[in-house]
This record gives sequence, C-alpha cells and structure tokens, in this order.
Amino acid sequence: ALAAQDAADLAGRHVVVSAGGTREPLDPVRFLGNRSSGKQGYALARAALARGARVTLVSANAALPGPAGADVVAVGTALQLREAVLKAAADADAVVMAAAVADFRPAAYAAGKIKKKDGQEPAPVALVRNPDVLAELSASRPRPGQVVVGFAAETDDVLANGRAKLARKGCDLLVVNEVGERLTFGAEENEAVVLDRDGAETPVPYGPKDALADVVWDLVVRRW
Ligand code: CTP
Ligand code: CA
Repeated sequence: ALAAQDAADLAGRHVVVSAGGTREPLDPVRFLGNRSSGKQGYALARAALARGARVTLVSANAALPGPAGADVVAVGTALQLREAVLKAAADADAVVMAAAVADFRPAAYAAGKIKKKDGQEPAPVALVRNPDVLAELSASRPRPGQVVVGFAAETDDVLANGRAKLARKGCDLLVVNEVGERLTFGAEENEAVVLDRDGAETPVPYGPKDALADVVWDLVVRRW
C-alpha cells in the first residue's frame, strides 16, 4: 500500500510499460494471438502516473482506454513491439514488460486471404522465432541504472521455473503469476511472487492488479 506522502516517488522518472498481447498475422484477416487483456500493464501505467512518472505505454491490441497523461504507442506484432519498446527505453529509468509477446510468428504472410479448396487438406502453418525483447533489453541497458522487469505465468514449480527464467532473461525483477486454479487472463485480480535477481522473494496475495502494480513500483524504487 502506498502512503500519501510517498505519492510522488516516481517524479522525474521516465518509465516504459508494455501491455496486452501481440498478434502475428497469417493473412490480411487472420492472426495468431493470445488471451492477454492488457489490464495488468494498464494498471502499472496508471500507478506510475499517480506516483509522478512520465509513462510510455506500448500497447499491443488492448481494448482499454489509454490512461490520461500516458504516451500511448499502439503496436500489433512482436516485431513492432520490440521497435517501440527499444526506442522508448533509450532514456527510460525502468522498463516493465507486462505484454504477452508471441514467441513465434508465421514464417510467411499471405498478401491475399488464404482460401480453402474442396477435397484438399489445409497446409501446415510454418513458424519462426520472434526476438526476445526482455532478454535483449536486459543485456543492452541503454541507460545506466535502468531497472528491467519481466512477467511470467507458470503452472508448475512456480518458484523454480521463475528463478530459472529470471536468470535466463537477465532482468532485475520477475513477477511470477501462479496460474492454474484461478486464471488471470482478463481477470481484475491477480496473485504473484516478485523475484529479485539478488534472491529476495516478495509474495503478493490474491488481490487487485492495481495493488500488484504498486508493489512492482515499490521494488523498482528500491533498486534505484
Ligand atoms: N518476452 C519478450 N519477448 C518475447 C517473449 C517474451 O520480451 N519474445 C517477455 C515477456 O514480455 C515477459 C517475459 O519475457 O515479460 C517472460 O515471458 P514468458 O513467455 O514467460 O517467457 P519465455 O522466455 O517466452 O518462456 P516460455 O517458453 O515459458 O514461454
Ligand atoms: Ca513465451
């Protein structure tokens, strides 16, 4: 919980938040997508604004109203998200990757609508890997002291998988959602553990996404 006197602890800071889920087009009318609603990323943006930050919100296909005062950059695909995040990160004090970035995209884009033909089996969809934006950011750190935060949803061995993922990505903090019993996609509430690269674990009890957002910024401020 945030005390009123701490309300401007992000003043003078530029933070970048990615939100939503990328869509990877197959043809002009179809895409591969995911169920991320964007609510957690938008909650992070609103919380940062309330605490005085300048906020760039890189928003992938979220059907949500842009938070007043945020610089919203709308993107569609993982490649577009990468470009927008890396550009905004150049002078950012923190980057929080709450977006669900597609790991793969169709290897080919059909300029015309893919049609079915009678008596013909559908062709398999070939995929290629997308770049890992979080790993790239964590490795490059365009601004000294920049704090990089990732999100992960895990179903099994949540803490062990989270620790391994944090190490693999090279980020400072990883917010691990425990999914399974209560799905977090589209929900207003969330339960998580925030792992710090230095070994600390901050459990965040089941509650509103706004509350998790404030815990994330508390931990970012501590790292600064
Ligand atoms: N992420 C990213 N670029 C990608 C994929 C993921 O920046 N191409 C970021 C997400 O925004 C998130 C974090 O990495 O902050 C973890 O995403 P997750 O899908 O859990 O990690 P992956 O390494 O893709 O692992 P998995 O194979 O479990 O999907
Ligand atoms: Ca993934």
